[in-house]
Amino acid sequence: MAIFISDDKISEIRNTTDIVDIISDVVSLKKAGKNYIGLCPFHTEKTPSFNVSPDKQIFHCFGCGIGGDVFSFLMKHDGLSFPEAVRIVATRYGIEIPTQRLSPGQKRKINERENLLNVNRQAMNYFRHSLLERASGKKAMEYLNKRGITKDTIESFVLGYVPEGWDNLTNFLIKKKMSSTFLEKSGLIISRKSSSGHYDRFRNRIIFPIFNVSRQVIGFGGRVMDDSDPKYLNSPETPVYNKSRSLYGLNMAKDKCRESKTVFIVEGYFDLLALHQHGIINSVATLGTSLTMDHVRILRGYIGKTGRVVLVYDSDDAGLKAAYRSIEIFDKGYVDARILVLPTGYDPDSYIFKFGKKSFMDAFSRAPGIIPFLIDFAEKKHGDSIEGKIRIISELKGPLAAIKDNVARSLYVKELSERLGIDETAILEKVRDISAKNKAKESKIGLKPIYPSNLQKKGKKSEYYGRTSNESKNRIERQIIAMMLQFPKILHEIKERDVLDCFVDSNLKSIGQSILDYKEKLYNHDRAPGDEHEFANGNRVSEFMNFIDDQEKKSIITSLALEEESWELEGCIKLITQFVETSRNRRSKGFIEKQIKEAEEKNDQELLIKLLIEKQNMAVLKQKQKMALLNRSIREA
Ligand code: GTP
Ligand code: MN
Repeated sequence: MAIFISDDKISEIRNTTDIVDIISDVVSLKKAGKNYIGLCPFHTEKTPSFNVSPDKQIFHCFGCGIGGDVFSFLMKHDGLSFPEAVRIVATRYGIEIPTQRLSPGQKRKINERENLLNVNRQAMNYFRHSLLERASGKKAMEYLNKRGITKDTIESFVLGYVPEGWDNLTNFLIKKKMSSTFLEKSGLIISRKSSSGHYDRFRNRIIFPIFNVSRQVIGFGGRVMDDSDPKYLNSPETPVYNKSRSLYGLNMAKDKCRESKTVFIVEGYFDLLALHQHGIINSVATLGTSLTMDHVRILRGYIGKTGRVVLVYDSDDAGLKAAYRSIEIFDKGYVDARILVLPTGYDPDSYIFKFGKKSFMDAFSRAPGIIPFLIDFAEKKHGDSIEGKIRIISELKGPLAAIKDNVARSLYVKELSERLGIDETAILEKVRDISAKNKAKESKIGLKPIYPSNLQKKGKKSEYYGRTSNESKNRIERQIIAMMLQFPKILHEIKERDVLDCFVDSNLKSIGQSILDYKEKLYNHDRAPGDEHEFANGNRVSEFMNFIDDQEKKSIITSLALEEESWELEGCIKLITQFVETSRNRRSKGFIEKQIKEAEEKNDQELLIKLLIEKQNMAVLKQKQKMALLNRSIREA
């Protein structure tokens, strides 16, 4: 049911939560001073620049600029709507949200996601019921038994069955008065082309619900129980199901992944169930799509920076393809990846049922990394003649050149040189040739990293923000906004002196205005004057962000709120005085120049002379001011 959540309730939920606790679920965080840092789940990085502030209850990534409060984190990370994010947090902290029926106007706005998730949940229940309770489910149950799937597994993965027929689910859902728009959007039900009405996508199949990490049903897979085609059918992508970000079994696997810092990745539903059933719970399946960067990023949130990804394949061929592809994905993701190829004729499912967990884990302990795997394979293929070695090098120079990490690359080159008995420098030369070509290509198509890689090492954020001339112009404006966020005592001055009027950057100006408005609101409502510290110290920054819709502005705010500086009133006033003066000067100078130009165009000599004198006077005045300042500093020195 769609619900309306009042602002008060949202504040209560926000004040009860701990953003560190919530984000820790999906990102491994380490304490660093007042804040926590970790690897950003929204872009690929090697050195942590993702910051979480428990004091301010906000997060910000200094690498990619994303930031926000606990709700925006969940929205972005799990693709949730705002109400969903609020609800998930509330449930976690045991806060009840009073529900109230919506007015027809609000109803229209009911979130699409909620509807789709609801359709999926109802469908899952129908499938489960059909498997467990209906006579027709018996043969499906027999099939599962035959494949060794236990009652426990069926229950924990909520497996189901859809009987034969064109409209079993269609009828069930329509009887539930669900709108056909959402039924179609869910992909479960397909609109007939030649006549009116709908039919079921899944018919006479075993059904596997696909959950997200919050255990919402986002899609389904279905398998036939005989040799007919297609063997598997999957839900199409929908607003709640994004294949390149979803991993089957992750909701069950995540805690174990975190604990063991290892994740096994298999290809199929049954492979996943089999591993799980044999106690290898830290496994997930990719389901027909190949592994993506997003998958890796998500997994890294659980296994951590030093974690291991084990790709399990049922043939050299599949392993090889994956290995080549993985170089691209893993190298950018900086993951310790292993390739586990099972003996010919076995997939993870059949292997573990036949040989058991111990044998699987032994095989895992021998599983090579990607490059060693490629070296092994090339050696097997080309033999150890001179020609063979040349072929091996030419086969491997590409993958080696693709490794961005210099240390890792030299180690592999060294390994290859030792194994082939060929001089390291000879191999390096080949690899460098390719690297140079790659680089030229990258810069041509503009793939160069936007952010300098030495950013973290310098550790100076101001340099980062000053990286383009445009941004350095904003430096003082940014500083003033940071001051407003962190040092509310100054807000009064800012308002009185109309400092924001002097801002050139419209985003910063509007953020500044929102801060003033927000402060006004606080005063008028629940705050006594003089209570300004609340804003800087407590959760106020994260609460304030609620009033900002624009993602870019949110990101500016979180970055500025986290760039801690110590402020004192006198210095702050000096800074704003200077800022206001220079910008007014600049403005009046600009104004005179504009007038001069106009006078020239109109050929108004009299006005022109007047303006030129005025301009000169201004310059003299400025010179005098400069001299006075100089004299004073000489005196004071
Ligand atoms: P079982 O035969 O049931 O053990 O399946 P498997 O998992 O061993 O199958 P396979 O290795 O053939 O496929 C691996 C995964 O690829 C499956 O789990 C599906 O997600 C996907 N897949 C396989 N066949 C099809 C198909 O015909 N259509 C689609 N869309 N996906 C498929
Ligand atoms: Mn199989």
